[in-house]
Amino acid sequence: MRILHVASEIFPLVKTGGLADVLGSLPPALARRGLDVRVLLPGFQGVLDGLGKLRAVERVGPVFGAASVNLRLGRLPDSELPAYVIDAPFLFRREGNPYTGADGRDWNDNHRRFGLLAWTAAHLASGELDPAWIPEVVHAHDWHAGLTPVYIMQNPGLKMPSVFTIHNLAFRGIFPMDCHYDLDLPMRRLNPRGLEFHGNISFMKAGLVYSSRITTVSPNYAREICTPEFGFGLDGVMRDRAGDLSGILNGVDYAVWNPGDAKIAKSYSVDDLAGKPVCKRALQLEFGLSTEARGPLFAVVSRLTSQKGMDLLLAALPELLQEGAQLAVLGTGDGDLEAGFRYAASVNPDNVAVCIGYDESMSHRFMAGADILLVPSRFEPCGLTQLYALRYGTLPLVRRVGGLADTVVDVNGENLANGTATGFVFGEASRQALGARIREACAFHRNDAHGWTKVQQRAMRQDFSWDDSAANYERLYRGLLGR
Ligand code: ADP
Ligand code: GLC
Repeated sequence: MRILHVASEIFPLVKTGGLADVLGSLPPALARRGLDVRVLLPGFQGVLDGLGKLRAVERVGPVFGAASVNLRLGRLPDSELPAYVIDAPFLFRREGNPYTGADGRDWNDNHRRFGLLAWTAAHLASGELDPAWIPEVVHAHDWHAGLTPVYIMQNPGLKMPSVFTIHNLAFRGIFPMDCHYDLDLPMRRLNPRGLEFHGNISFMKAGLVYSSRITTVSPNYAREICTPEFGFGLDGVMRDRAGDLSGILNGVDYAVWNPGDAKIAKSYSVDDLAGKPVCKRALQLEFGLSTEARGPLFAVVSRLTSQKGMDLLLAALPELLQEGAQLAVLGTGDGDLEAGFRYAASVNPDNVAVCIGYDESMSHRFMAGADILLVPSRFEPCGLTQLYALRYGTLPLVRRVGGLADTVVDVNGENLANGTATGFVFGEASRQALGARIREACAFHRNDAHGWTKVQQRAMRQDFSWDDSAANYERLYRGLLGR
């Protein structure tokens, strides 16, 4: 089965979040099952540099405002999977991240940049760009690739099934209606039953309305997005398409995320946890934290945004500190939250450390060194960091929402007794509820060292590898192709 994955990020070449991790590990997992998988990516500098020797596939000529567009083919590092890259220097070779300039503002031609991504996918699907390899299913990810099924439909002779995966419904890819001139979109689809979203165009909505099947990254989030609370105004569309929607939990690449990891101070394993305190001490020393604290070391590795509940955490920080616990934060995001964490570190230098920045290797040291990983999200489609934490025996403390609810089993009397507990779960998105769960986690850490170790071992034995999820995607593709 030939499957083309279309996305804007891929680990380790370009990453701003979990989407990149999924693209870096799902296609290889499908390939291991015998599928013939390729990916299509925008020609960001990191992608062009990371794909090895590039072979010319087709000169596309001037489209989407770019004078020169060339489709090239390289291979992904490690997996060696073939990857198409759209080399359009005017659109993609810029400073900043895939979506914003260095000033943090969205590029004002993002509709063209990601329109071209979807347009290229559709022309690969039709065989016009590379007759030597024509996919049987096109799998598009998030709003960046949302127009893919629309461009596929523009070609009346092309019957190409498509899958659209929602990684985060909050980002809807909204652009002014008059962008349709630049994008060559058909007028008859520019209405509320089609691409229109309250007078604008939404690339996310395009993917939701026109793809053959929709998936999202956890079963619980698949249910949540059909409700107004989590639907970001698209819950009506989700309900209309509920029969074609499913939740398939993300997996983890345990070759990258495991406590045998060369990036951490001392490796350890479920049978020999001796290296973990060494990692903790190394992290405390790296950030000038006291090594004498009474309470556990909490960590955050996250975008610092209200989605991630970081305002709740700042508000609950006094309770954490009252317990004699410590907090280490690695993240970037909203200016106010960055400033809030910086201030907290400046007045509590022995017990709060903050690194504002994005650092892949440091994120491993946080995962290994902490006792507890905090993920108090308001909404969370899947969440990957809690899965990484589990493998490092770092107990996640999460809100009962989205994929967090599907992956962490609460430390409570019943779950401790039956040996299923893996972390701490709280309900209400409030400072009080978070603060209370933080206090309870500290009490458990203080009073039951043996119980703590048992939960750690249980956490480390959890298996969220890609095998089951990749099998689910394969089943979905087979269903679409009637095989
Ligand atoms: P989201 O995609 O919503 O940001 P996920 O939990 O799915 O959340 O994925 C986040 C990914 O980004 C993880 O791989 C996490 O380790 C990584 N990450 C987030 N912030 C940072 C940071 N400041 N430095 C390094 N890695 C980070
Ligand atoms: C999004 C979500 C996150 C998910 C990731 C990968 O960024 O916010 O919850 O884990 O995509 O699917």
